[in-house]
Amino acid sequence: MEKIRIGIAGLGRLGKHHAGNLAFRVKGAELVAACSIVDAELDWARESLGVEHLFEDYERMLRSTQLDAVFLVTPTNRHPQQIMAALQAGRHVFCEKPLALTIAECEEVIGVAREHPDRVTAIGFVRRYDPGYAYAKRKIQAGAIGRPILFRAQTADMDETAAFQVEFSKSSGGVFLDASIHDMDLARWLLESEVQDVYCVGDCYVHAEFRRYDDADNATALYRLRNGAAASITVSRTAMHGHDTHAEVVGTKGSLVVGRPPRLVNVDICDEHGVRSECVPSFYERFEQAFLLEAQDFVRCVAEGCQPRCSLADAAEATRIAIATTTSYRRGERVVL
Ligand code: NAI
Repeated sequence: MEKIRIGIAGLGRLGKHHAGNLAFRVKGAELVAACSIVDAELDWARESLGVEHLFEDYERMLRSTQLDAVFLVTPTNRHPQQIMAALQAGRHVFCEKPLALTIAECEEVIGVAREHPDRVTAIGFVRRYDPGYAYAKRKIQAGAIGRPILFRAQTADMDETAAFQVEFSKSSGGVFLDASIHDMDLARWLLESEVQDVYCVGDCYVHAEFRRYDDADNATALYRLRNGAAASITVSRTAMHGHDTHAEVVGTKGSLVVGRPPRLVNVDICDEHGVRSECVPSFYERFEQAFLLEAQDFVRCVAEGCQPRCSLADAAEATRIAIATTTSYRRGERVVL
């Protein structure tokens, strides 16, 4: 079978990992082109991955290389235009989350995707591919905990990344669109209902710099879902022990906990401080396997001509919840979706 020829745009914090997977670890994929506005990243792609075609300009990559698909790992504010340009150039698209920063842009992308139904359009809600969350989903579907009624989740990045996160706020839309959007998607997926309203409380408790973008460094939001279930989602940019992402789903007949404790390896150190274990340092170590499974599923969808399980409508709905949460945080009031 012919390999799927892929061009990647964005070789930063996450793009480098996706590029490495596509070059060496995803069967049926061939990474033939890369695009970045940073020369050193293009040099890295040539030297470390052997990528043949390198571009500083995304539109040029689309025009001048024979590609089947693009992988977009660029700043969030670029996603909608880059997805639409790729579809209009006849390429399949994988784009990192979030789909866009506004509902109008989400709808525009959905409209263009509708004109290209034979092109795969995937948005990177990577946690759906994590073996732990996927297992929880299967158990819930099999009735293991009865009817799911409560979802309690947290995403916490290490405090040492805060300076990066402040700068990132310029293009990411802030912590709710950037980080808790994963948990919002999981809440819909695992509770099988839509969010009705949200009340979010938080502040810049540790890093006042986040105020520049009306962003928070710690916050928690409470959601009511249309089927009567509830979700509470906490987000933090100031964890001292590592990247700590976990969730609990409570049902009428039991509960499931995913990702606790957030161990780097399954080893306990027993010494004069007690019993402890090291924590995964970043989202990448936590979700390394999921990122690979996600890329493999994208290539499978392209090869088989089907769409991924997480649809553009799902991605748009997660964006809607994240925007409502941001509004609630900023106004200090309940927001109805
Ligand atoms: P980054 O800032 O480290 O890297 C951005 C990359 O995009 C750089 O290589 C930069 O040169 C390139 N770039 C910027 N403008 C460009 C343009 N116009 N054309 C082509 N390339 C351009 O950002 P990071 O952290 O890698 O995030 C990228 C995206 O991935 C964001 O949308 C973010 O939300 C998402 N992400 C998703 C995660 C997940 O858990 N699924 C985790 C981290 C990031």
